[in-house]
This record gives sequence, C-alpha cells and structure tokens, in this order.
Amino acid sequence: MASTSNLVPQLAIPDLFGKLAYQTFQQTKNALSLAHKMTASRLTEWVLPEAWHQPLQELSPELLSTLKQMNDDLMERDWEDAQQGVYPQSLLFESQWDDFLRYYPQVWLEMGKVWQRLPQKNYQHFDPEIETQGYPKYYLQNFHHQPNGYLSDRSAELYDLQVELLFNGCANAMRRRILAPLKSELTANFAHLLPQQIRVLDVACGTGYTLRALRATLPKASLFGLDLSPAYLRRANQLLSQFPGELPQLVQGKGEELPYLDQYFHAVTSVFLFHELPGKIRQQVIEEAFRVLKPNGVFIICDSMQAVDRPDFTPMMENFPTLYHEPYYRHYIHDDLQLRLEQAGFTDIRIENHLVSKYWIARRG
Ligand SMILES: C[S@@+](CC[C@H](N)C(=O)[O-])C[C@H]1O[C@@H](n2cnc3c(N)ncnc32)[C@H](O)[C@@H]1O
Repeated sequence: MASTSNLVPQLAIPDLFGKLAYQTFQQTKNALSLAHKMTASRLTEWVLPEAWHQPLQELSPELLSTLKQMNDDLMERDWEDAQQGVYPQSLLFESQWDDFLRYYPQVWLEMGKVWQRLPQKNYQHFDPEIETQGYPKYYLQNFHHQPNGYLSDRSAELYDLQVELLFNGCANAMRRRILAPLKSELTANFAHLLPQQIRVLDVACGTGYTLRALRATLPKASLFGLDLSPAYLRRANQLLSQFPGELPQLVQGKGEELPYLDQYFHAVTSVFLFHELPGKIRQQVIEEAFRVLKPNGVFIICDSMQAVDRPDFTPMMENFPTLYHEPYYRHYIHDDLQLRLEQAGFTDIRIENHLVSKYWIARRG
C-alpha cells in the first residue's frame, strides 16, 4: 500500500504544473500586451508628436515594480480561488487567441483612423449610418477611441482584445474577483433556495465576459445581462451561446432605468461601467440596483482604483483619460461610491482592491 508521504507529491504535481501553466499563460499575455502598448505609444509619438491634449506623466521605476507585485498578487488570488472551487480551473485558461489572430491587424488599422481623428479633437465621431437617436448624450462618445463608440459591430469585435491589451492580459482575472464575494453572499443569505432559483443581473454586461464567468461559477442560476449597446449584446450572445447551461437573458436598456420588477434579483453586478458615467447617473444606477435587489441581496461593483486607494498611482490615473478618451474618469477617481451606496440604502459595504481595480460589495439590508 502506498504511504501518505508517497501520495502527496503525486497529488501536488498536477497542481504545480497547472499553476506553472497558468503563470506562463498570464505572463505571455502580459509581455505581448506591454510590447504592443510600447510600440503603439512610440508610433503615436512619432506620427503625431502633439497627439495628447495634456502631457503624459512619467511612471517611476518604483511604481512599475509595485504594479508587477500587484499583478503577481492578482494571479495568486485567481489561482487560489479556482483551487478553492469558487469557479472551475478551466476558466483560468480560456483564451482569446482566435480573436487575437483575427482582430489584431484590425486594431492597428483602427489606430490609423484614430491618428486621423486625434488632431481634430473629435471624440464624438459617429458614421452617418450609425443610429444615435434615443441614446443619452453622455453615452455618445468614442470611449477609448472605439470606432463609433459602443454602437458598431466593429467596436464590439475589437473591444475584448483592446481591453486585454490595456490590462496586460488581466481583464478577466480582475472580473473574476467579483465571484468569491458573490458566492459567499449568496451562500450566507439564500442557502434555503435551490441553485436554479437564484437570479443574478449583470448591468452593462458588454460583450458578456462577466456573464461567462458567472455561468461557470453558478451553472444553474438564472442570469440576466443588460447593456445599452445592441452591437455589444449581439457579441455577448455569440460568446455565451458557446457554453452549456441556460443562455443568460440579454436586454437592451439603461442601467439608470432598469426594466425589472422591484426586489427581483438576489445579486446585481457591474464591471467597468462606473468610470464611464457622469456622477449623477452613477447615483441613479446604484439606486436602481437597490430597487431591483431582494432584501439581503448583494450588489458588487468592479471598476478602476481611485485616487484615495493609491495616491502614488496618480500619474497612471492621470494618463489614462488622456490616452484613452475617458471623459468622466477624472471625476470618477475622486467620487465617493461608498457614500453613494449608503445614500441609496446599502449596508455592510466592503471594499477590496486587486491590481488596478476596486470592488464595492454592498448588501441591501
Ligand atoms: C467599459 S464597457 C464594460 C463592459 C463589460 N462590463 C466588461 O466587463 O467588459 C462599458 C459598457 O457599459 C455600457 N454602458 C454604458 N453606459 C450604460 C448605461 N447607462 N446603461 C447600460 N449600459 C451602459 C456600454 O455599452 C459598454 O458595453
């Protein structure tokens, strides 16, 4: 009979290899993204020396080394949560390589068009065939220089790759940080329900990557996704149809006017939305999340870190809206979302930070 001491290494080796494979996978994405960003910024400086309306701030070697440490911490946490069974390990290895090969050349083609638009400082450019009527004015922006803002299929096709490049391959790892608090809140407050009775809404679901992670984490729950962009919802539908389980219900609508009944959901999530909203709309989205949540339901916001979290990261936060056209970001980084959540009636608010993201976990009392 094999002794326990013989068994331990046999059990540990797959984990060790798994972890190494995950780290290698992440580091590869990281290196490719950094190389891309460096080339893009050098080329932009060369083509358009006066490209940015504000000078960019230097990032110190200390800041870059802190960032590297935060990146490693995020990977560790991501791996640990998968090990703990919060979500399946396979989620860690899902890649967008096919998207990368297909759309990477187009990212460069788009950059050429951005260079043409930059000198005119035209950040609200929509082609004549794009329907812009009926959308709020604050939304009609070329956020991160997206072609036709969020309103074209081209924009939806390029979005995920661009976000991966922006976050050095860590976008999904940051999205996944909502999953552990979500699962533990649902377990603590709704353990008496069957898994299929749980309803979760993702506000501003975009192309569906948060819903994808939610589906893997809560295979039987009823999932709902809402976004203002029909093009992004079409793309989300394509992504989500590839996976087993009930298809999330996708609806076009505004986060500040949710088309759902009062107290309908057990959880509401929202990822990378709040920095793209004016302050007043942020408050309305929070109030709507409160309205549609059941008592003891949880609301989880994931968005950028704020000035108060890391004053030493201010140069990076200042550069972001200059480089990527984010008209509400400077207001966002100083906005007290905890106060907004409290004003709406939320209690037990917890805050977490992972890499460059911040999380508010709030309960409807
Ligand atoms: C930066 S993207 C984030 C998308 C997605 N949550 C993610 O993790 O990638 C912002 C998304 O918010 C949507 N959006 C912006 N304002 C909105 C609003 N008021 N109501 C609903 N969706 C909105 C956009 O259409 C876009 O899909």
